[in-house]
Amino acid sequence: MKSFFHVQDIGDLAKALEEAKQVKATPYAWQHLGKNKTIILVFFNNSLRTRLSSQKAALNLGLDPIVLNVNGDSWKLETRMGVVMDGDKSEHLKEAIPVIGSYCDLIGVRSFAGLTDKEFDYNETILKQFIDYSGKPVISLESATVHPCQAFADLFTIEEYKTKKRPKVVMTWAPHPRALPQAVPNSFAEWMNAADVDFVIAQPEGYELDPQFVGNARVVYDQMEAFEGADFVYAKNWSAMTPYGQVINKDMSWTVGARQMAVTNNAHFLHCLPVRRNMIVTDEVIDSPRSLVIPEAANRVVSAQVVMKRMLEEM
Ligand code: CP
Repeated sequence: MKSFFHVQDIGDLAKALEEAKQVKATPYAWQHLGKNKTIILVFFNNSLRTRLSSQKAALNLGLDPIVLNVNGDSWKLETRMGVVMDGDKSEHLKEAIPVIGSYCDLIGVRSFAGLTDKEFDYNETILKQFIDYSGKPVISLESATVHPCQAFADLFTIEEYKTKKRPKVVMTWAPHPRALPQAVPNSFAEWMNAADVDFVIAQPEGYELDPQFVGNARVVYDQMEAFEGADFVYAKNWSAMTPYGQVINKDMSWTVGARQMAVTNNAHFLHCLPVRRNMIVTDEVIDSPRSLVIPEAANRVVSAQVVMKRMLEEM
């Protein structure tokens, strides 16, 4: 695997989930793979789970992780091509990336969508430069349009907790005060479309995701109708595609609460975290025994470790 970006990169999903199970059961069984090897984790944006779970996954594999906080403790990096660098950016990605690549064996990159230039974001301009200029395998740690480590952990969590072969999984938009990227819902939709689940997206009008990610999902504009009989509810906010990156609705009736959960099949609640309580989900739901947000976050180590393991095995 030269890069981890889309669900296709992981290959056969059943095999990947079986491998995740093995990694979770015996996390230190592959320590030899990472011996004398280094992963550099480049963060253009904040993180709690991705940073820590990636470091932990690397350590489990015997890899040395190095974290670089761009804009915090390095030179500010210019990401656009052909610009006159007369602003606050001291170094261009075209030099920085091959330098980073020369110090490591694997690279992970977090670079959120800017939400101002749809073409720049949806071309994955920053991540693609890492793939083109580093010469090393690159993992998206949430880039402009995808968050595959999160979606893999989400699917693995559903696999662990499902009680029927083909559960109903509902991803619902929920309100948030700020404009958020579409990466998490894009990847969740992409992975659910590839999995053996009955997948429904509940959203208000105007929040349609890019069709390449919606795939064969049923899109339902009535949240209560979508929730009927659901086995898993996955809540997330995202900003609109048109006008790009804007908040066009703050309807608090979409906050996931006991009212909606009552029509489900005693559904488990999922969210990638961080979550704004009583905006996205009520305290009652996230604190209930059906909430899986903590085991879901714990599985981020597993998904990251499977990806790094695969990359190391191919070296
Ligand atoms: N879910 C997730 O990616 O969390 P962080 O932003 O804290 O890494």
